[in-house]
Amino acid sequence: MTKQEIILANQQYLFPSVFHYYREPLVVMRAKDQFVWDADGNQYLDFFGGIVTISVGHCNETVNRKVTEQMGRLQHVSTVFANEPQAALAKRIAEVTPGGALSKSFFTNSGTEANETAILAARCYTGAHEVVALRHSYHGRSALMMAASGQAAWRLGGAPVPGFVHALNAYCYRCPVGLTYPSCDVKCARDMEDLIRTSTSGRIAAFIAEPIQGIGGFITPPKEYFGIVAEIVRKFGGVFISDEVQTGWGRTGNKWFGIEQYGVTPDIITSAKGLGNGAPVGLTVARPEVADALKGATISTFGGNPVTATAAKAVIDFIDEQNLMTNAAETGAYLRARLEELKAKHSLIGDVRGMGLMQALELVEDRQSKTPATAAAAAVMEAARENRLLVGKGGMQGNVIRITPPLNISRADVDDFALRLDAGFVEVGRAQMRRS
Ligand SMILES: Cc1ncc(COP(=O)(O)O)c(C=O)c1O
Repeated sequence: MTKQEIILANQQYLFPSVFHYYREPLVVMRAKDQFVWDADGNQYLDFFGGIVTISVGHCNETVNRKVTEQMGRLQHVSTVFANEPQAALAKRIAEVTPGGALSKSFFTNSGTEANETAILAARCYTGAHEVVALRHSYHGRSALMMAASGQAAWRLGGAPVPGFVHALNAYCYRCPVGLTYPSCDVKCARDMEDLIRTSTSGRIAAFIAEPIQGIGGFITPPKEYFGIVAEIVRKFGGVFISDEVQTGWGRTGNKWFGIEQYGVTPDIITSAKGLGNGAPVGLTVARPEVADALKGATISTFGGNPVTATAAKAVIDFIDEQNLMTNAAETGAYLRARLEELKAKHSLIGDVRGMGLMQALELVEDRQSKTPATAAAAAVMEAARENRLLVGKGGMQGNVIRITPPLNISRADVDDFALRLDAGFVEVGRAQMRRS
């Protein structure tokens, strides 16, 4: 198919909800390591990784070799038969969860399903129903997960499923209670008790949160936040579900999971995306007593599939063997410094935040009013594309540039990235001057 045929077929044969970045969709034909190529043969530096999913580089040879071998050996049996790749992956995951405390896994195909399983396990374990989530969160696209998510834009189809309340978010750049960290004494976290007492029956099944909110715009709570909140949640009987769909597998630097940056051990971790480096795999891993409460008939036809389980274990092993968690911390710190330089140069950048190789720029019309610069963010995305750089977008107002390259990039890649993004900001700045 030609590029135009692909774009037309997309319009004609896919649901219109399959939306694309950019004025003209970017048709990606192939990819390798940190690069992708479009239908015209142009090469792009990929600092988004297909939505925070390419953790060890596109078409990673070590992972793909193991996957190809597995494809030739055993492709599918479903969870009603035992298979080695699923068992080996579950064992490996139990080794890397915080303190080894979460040791029983359930595999599915996506982050949405991973979170569904987590909520189900929490309800079975606690006998309670209500769930606390965070404003600005995103947890998936099923009816239940749309209700869990804290963003109107991602709740299609009318009235959400009952049983969810949304707590104040630790969004320091736009503090929900108008205070400043650290003199605020993390009031947003302490409000959790009031929320549970006033907006639930007082007995909750779970609190679900992303350690750093992904689609919300890499909102990064202060270091005390999750400790305070977890204690309150447990006081009211709830389990703590850490949604690590974006923050897992070393992305935040030096640790396997984002929640470990906060010194808190959750009861359940969910993940997907970077775990498979593009292979569809969803994970719910729990403390044994929580997992053991989920008894009876539930099944995932493709969960623990031998091929995707092989991919996931190969990804974990690769991250470990190549010391990519250290690289995420060190190259991530270098990336952060380059982003701070960009902030010093371009007034459009109001905030730089994130951890490791999960960094974001929040764009504002001016730094006093902090009015979200939605149009400018779209223009920066287009300009970056013209400069052959891919980055992501997020935030409630679409004004946050999200940066999540593969974990095995180098400083030279970061320099290349910074040059291209800087050029994009310069072009957008010039266009704004011309209009004013
Ligand atoms: C934090 C988080 N949780 C859950 C999901 C849902 O994952 P999936 O799209 O694989 O269903 C996403 C997807 O972006 C996510 O970012």
